[in-house]
Amino acid sequence: MGIHAIVGGQWGDEGKGKIVDYFSADADVVARYQGGANAGHTVFIGEEQFILHQVPSGILSPGTRCLMGTGMVVDPVALAEEISELQDRGIDCLKQIGLAYNSHLVMPVHRIMDGISEDHSQDQTIGTTRRGIGPTYADRHARRGIPVATMLDADRFRAATKEHLRYANTIITKIYNQEAVKFEDFWDTLQQARELILPMITDVSHELIQALHDEKNILSEGAQGVLLDLDFGSYPYVTSSHPGTVGVSVGLGVPSNAITRSTGIFKAYCTRVGEGPFPTELTDESGEKLRESGGEYGATTGRPRRCGWFDTVLGEYSASMNGFTDICITKADVLGAFEEIELCTSYKNQDDSFLNLQQIENVQPEYTSYPGWNSDIAAAKSFEEFPEELKSYLEAIERKLNTPISIVSTGPERTQLVMK
Ligand code: GDP
Ligand code: IMO
Ligand code: MG
Repeated sequence: MGIHAIVGGQWGDEGKGKIVDYFSADADVVARYQGGANAGHTVFIGEEQFILHQVPSGILSPGTRCLMGTGMVVDPVALAEEISELQDRGIDCLKQIGLAYNSHLVMPVHRIMDGISEDHSQDQTIGTTRRGIGPTYADRHARRGIPVATMLDADRFRAATKEHLRYANTIITKIYNQEAVKFEDFWDTLQQARELILPMITDVSHELIQALHDEKNILSEGAQGVLLDLDFGSYPYVTSSHPGTVGVSVGLGVPSNAITRSTGIFKAYCTRVGEGPFPTELTDESGEKLRESGGEYGATTGRPRRCGWFDTVLGEYSASMNGFTDICITKADVLGAFEEIELCTSYKNQDDSFLNLQQIENVQPEYTSYPGWNSDIAAAKSFEEFPEELKSYLEAIERKLNTPISIVSTGPERTQLVMK
């Protein structure tokens, strides 16, 4: 059966949470493979809204095992809060969640360092979510991080925390001239979180290999999007992990040939939060209209998202690099408010063999106009019911990305999906 990967095809917030929730109804296991509490994945069940940050979006399907893989960086305090909020809403998720023993901990001081680094960068603010993601991955790669398994031994955990704090405080005080962080300020809260989390620690790779062997139905849930990939995104305006299909194998400890389907999730237009190039960005009233019609405000930080037209140059880059077997277009309903829709089909004088995402700030997008459909598609149940204008727009995206569309999402609610 293999793993079905759900991957963000743009700059994040494509609607991955909703699609993971949809497939979770039939999944035995859902596994997150990268990122951490920088993610905000929204699921609507009727009128009720859930925003998942670290807990996989499969949690709303009772009985689905939800794994947090090795490639994640896990904030124990935020995780304890997220679990307790879910419990308050009647979702008894403790036994459903497994946490990789070899994923790394986002310590309270990592969050502080993320904020300080953003506030004190001279000319290179990334616009991070300030959730400690970059500093934690940096420590992991420099081999001074704290793996989750350290929590299994109370004394070792305390010693590792103190040692790590000593190191972090050297940077905070010597490089940034800020006040040192005190151990006592966070230790009790961290300890409480540790106690909640201890029973969840597991060998995620082993569980998944077993599930593959037993031909279980497995989903992997990407966070962020391919254009925010550390290496293949618009560096340095990226996140510190690999959100694409390529991240699944190393992030979960499974062979790459276990991935049998990879669905790229794309919004019918583009959004981006934080700094960095965005060739099709609209800074005029059309951008404002997209933001208001689409409710484009960050699910994690509440920041207004930058909005623009769909970019098929970047879409093709993303689809081909990630080997998407199929794509899902979300928020098609939002474009119903437009008379005319622009689709970026090329960049002026672009050399097809070398798209350098680090230097796309100066490209000049070229557009093809599509007539809008001026109607509400929220109630559509089949592709055939869609207005012809929408069908033509979707077919143009399919052709440009050279990948079939399998699903179109027509509203935020769980059931607002049309299969093609
Ligand atoms: P994720 O991070 O990829 O899971 O996406 P977010 O949850 O950050 O942002 C997607 C937003 O769009 C959320 O508010 C969803 O409820 C909403 N959404 C998802 N699909 C649709 C859709 O087809 N139409 C509309 N109007 N909203 C959608
Ligand atoms: P989901 O999973 C959109 C962006 C931040 C910033 C950059 C680096 O909900 O799609 P980080 O905190 O990761 O160091 O920030 O990445 N970013 C996201 N943008 N959706 C996300 O997650 C994001 N997670 C991080 O805005 O530009
Ligand atoms: Mg999001």
